[in-house]
Amino acid sequence: MPMKHSTYSVIIVGSGIAGLYAAIKLAQTAKVPDGILLLTKSTLSECNSRYAQGGIVGVLDENKQDSISLHVADTIKAGCGLSDFNVVKFISENSQHAIKDLMACGVDFDKNEQNQLNFTLEGAHSVRRILHVGGDATGYGIEKALVEKIKNDKAIASNITIYEQTIAVELLIDANKNCRGLISYNAATKEYEALYAPVTVLATGGTGQVYKYTTNPSVTTGDGLALAIKAHAEIKDMEFIQFHPTALSLENSDSRFLISESVRGEGAKLINQNGEYFMKNHPQKDLAPRDVVAREIYAQLSKGNKVFLDASFIGVEKFKKRFPNIYKTCLENNIDITKDFIPVSPAAHYCMGGIKTEVNGQSSVNNLYAIGEAACTSLHGANRLASNSLLECVVCAHEFVSTISKQNLLSSKIIDETVLSTIKRYAETENYYSVDINVTELKAQVKNIMWNNVGIIRTESSLLTALSEINKIEEIFANKDKCASLDEYELRNMILVAKCIINAALSRKDSIGAHYRADSTPVSTVNEHAGFAEKSEDKADDSKIIA
Ligand code: FAD
Ligand code: SIN
Repeated sequence: MPMKHSTYSVIIVGSGIAGLYAAIKLAQTAKVPDGILLLTKSTLSECNSRYAQGGIVGVLDENKQDSISLHVADTIKAGCGLSDFNVVKFISENSQHAIKDLMACGVDFDKNEQNQLNFTLEGAHSVRRILHVGGDATGYGIEKALVEKIKNDKAIASNITIYEQTIAVELLIDANKNCRGLISYNAATKEYEALYAPVTVLATGGTGQVYKYTTNPSVTTGDGLALAIKAHAEIKDMEFIQFHPTALSLENSDSRFLISESVRGEGAKLINQNGEYFMKNHPQKDLAPRDVVAREIYAQLSKGNKVFLDASFIGVEKFKKRFPNIYKTCLENNIDITKDFIPVSPAAHYCMGGIKTEVNGQSSVNNLYAIGEAACTSLHGANRLASNSLLECVVCAHEFVSTISKQNLLSSKIIDETVLSTIKRYAETENYYSVDINVTELKAQVKNIMWNNVGIIRTESSLLTALSEINKIEEIFANKDKCASLDEYELRNMILVAKCIINAALSRKDSIGAHYRADSTPVSTVNEHAGFAEKSEDKADDSKIIA
């Protein structure tokens, strides 16, 4: 089978905020004689980033109540002490530059009547320090500005080749463990291509789709992690999956639209169907760290209670202005927040773990970098502080560009026997996975297994059950080299990532942060608060409870 071969100075996989920002900065500052390839498996603007609501952390001089030390302390506390202090400090110190540079790229953060930036609050932040766009459309606002820059700024656009509907399926790793590029598969033409570059960066996002209930869009199948696992890169902290406490929970629907934590930041409160304000006794109440709130909601749901957000404390006009997208989506689903409570439940939201990297994205494999949610810089520890991830995308992409700009990025198409044999597998083998497997059904099975056994509460027994069931599904793919579709590649990646999460969760026998083992004694300080809700006596207004 003939196969196309191309060379670039840098290959960027993924067009979320990390990938787009890296592409722009590279095109602006680095010498890229062979150009930049930006490869994405869906359309340019489809990704997790697009749906980010609450905002992005900015520790800015003009915000007098805030400081680097406060932000560092909040991040480390939310992460239960497992964050790397130097990484947290570095990212916090660079937040001012990141925000100013996003503004220079055309991002229009919300301002008040005095034309000053508006800061909001989210869980576990001690001060208001989160900037937002379009009220609750921060990700959309940033992604839109970056896409426009890439498309309309001629100097930038002329350096970047964009491949859409094209999935990276395997990294080209030589015998000395150097990454030489990758193999891609175009879902529209069904063609494979060998792509060579001195630098490859995975900006492929998280893993949310591995779970039945998730706030993440369908593209978030952990592909970058799977590619890195196959390339024997070091992976870190995969037991720490963040479940967002408040996703819109509608009967007869598995989809989970996010109700931003900033809705609680602006005053909304969590209640159960009996009107009990069950976060009342926690020192941080509704704005306790996410893992704590998610477990408390889970405990309510396990007792058969329904859980709601009471947004009446915000006021109707303010809600409509501040959260236009959430207001509209609720209304489309027959929830009028002026009269009704919003039914919520937790959903898989963010992967704290990932490909182990430095802040500049360098992985344990030479020439292979990872940035954004796909990477684990150890910023987040056991539980991410809200709105730190978009900041990490931008700061790490910037560092990545600073690092590789100093290198010679002239592509030299070095192909040894090991790389050649990988290419041949795609060029010559007809050894496809079964074309008649029901990918949708198998994906649903993986998602159910993970939700039921590797979710908010885990035990050794549930984890072993999950491992054995996932292993059975994996057997379908035994001894085969290629998939028959993009969907099949995603399924294969989801299986690999699911196993990685399960094995990490099995290895960590204690509970800390987002990893809660019901068969162990909690060790984290925040977990001390588990069970406090039993003491809650407050009642909210029963008249608004939806049956
Ligand atoms: P993504 O934005 O997920 O982009 C990944 C890209 O890689 C996509 O373009 C995808 O198509 C592509 N891709 C994946 N695999 C392949 C492959 N094999 N080949 C080719 N392309 C591939 N964080 C905050 O800080 N603040 C918030 O307010 C916030 N709100 C959120 C709300 C929601 C609903 C969600 C889901 C997340 C939110 N987060 C928030 C988290 C944050 O959005 C993500 O962590 C961040 O956007 C990740 O950016 P990224 O560039 O790393 O990846
Ligand atoms: C939210 O708006 O609640 C999401 C914020 C985040 O995940 O950082």
